[in-house]
Amino acid sequence: SKVSVFILALTLTLALAINPAMARTYVIKFSHVVAVDTPKGKAAEYLKKIVEERTKGKIKVQVYPNAALYGDREALEALKMNAIQMACPSFSKFTGFVPELQIFDLPFLFENTEHLHKFMDSKVGKELLKGVSRMGLIGLAYWDNGFKQLTLDDNPIRLPKDIKGKKFRIMSSKVLEAQFKVVGASPQVLPFSEVYSALQQGVVDGQENTISNIYTKKFYEVQKYMTISNHGYLGYMLVTNQIFWNSLPQNLRDILSSCVKEATNYERKLAAELNQEQLEKIKASGKVQIHYLTPEERKVWKKAMMKIYPEFYDVIGKERIEEALKLAP
Ligand code: LMR
Repeated sequence: SKVSVFILALTLTLALAINPAMARTYVIKFSHVVAVDTPKGKAAEYLKKIVEERTKGKIKVQVYPNAALYGDREALEALKMNAIQMACPSFSKFTGFVPELQIFDLPFLFENTEHLHKFMDSKVGKELLKGVSRMGLIGLAYWDNGFKQLTLDDNPIRLPKDIKGKKFRIMSSKVLEAQFKVVGASPQVLPFSEVYSALQQGVVDGQENTISNIYTKKFYEVQKYMTISNHGYLGYMLVTNQIFWNSLPQNLRDILSSCVKEATNYERKLAAELNQEQLEKIKASGKVQIHYLTPEERKVWKKAMMKIYPEFYDVIGKERIEEALKLAP
């Protein structure tokens, strides 16, 4: 009847007057630097889908892949200022703000993915997630990529001496810098979006990255050799900022939290699958010669690279490193 429609309209008007948050919609700009067909890229799309469905469009997610909106250097600044509301940078990119996250960069710290997850889920791992509050951010979850492999333009890599004097692109991390210096190579920090052209033009001789990044950004097409070294790990922290998070009504925050959990499980599974699948594709291309480190070769690398740990006891925390080592299988 007319009366009930009137009452309904009145109730809604009053509700909105009392609580404007009920009517508002929210936009999450999610900026990242990798391709869509990667664990992070696909999980970002998945998160968008479930968040928009479950909030019935009250939260819209706009994903900007491939550094289309912000590159490595700008994304965290933009997030701090609420120009974007989500990002998922690799740990190395937090170095200037939350240097203890470099623990994840330490070469040969994690034996395998189970070891890594055990550490992430531990008390120390959970506490590391909170470090970003110092920069006005909220660490929502750890997202996986995988272990890094080495690629080089001019000769195969079996032992540390094979990269002596070679220039390697690294992410902005002091640990990664030390890791290459300790074996006589020369590291150079470059944003992810510039790696392909730097390799192609010989600005650097090589780089380290996960299979999914090497595949989707075609690094293997401009490098003659790749060594499956699994020497270090590359993963991410999914972060939002406090300004945005605090602006959300509690019910939307709850939905978003549960979507993040689900997307994180999806992401972990996907990371393992995609890195495997894309390695097969790189092999099938025949464009790069692949060497798998033998157990003996791996020992030599491990011994050489683990020498850098004491340099980082202060900045990372010796007890955190010991905790990670303790969880080894
Ligand atoms: C890199 O810069 O190599 C990576 O951090 C890119 C990424 O986000 O996986």
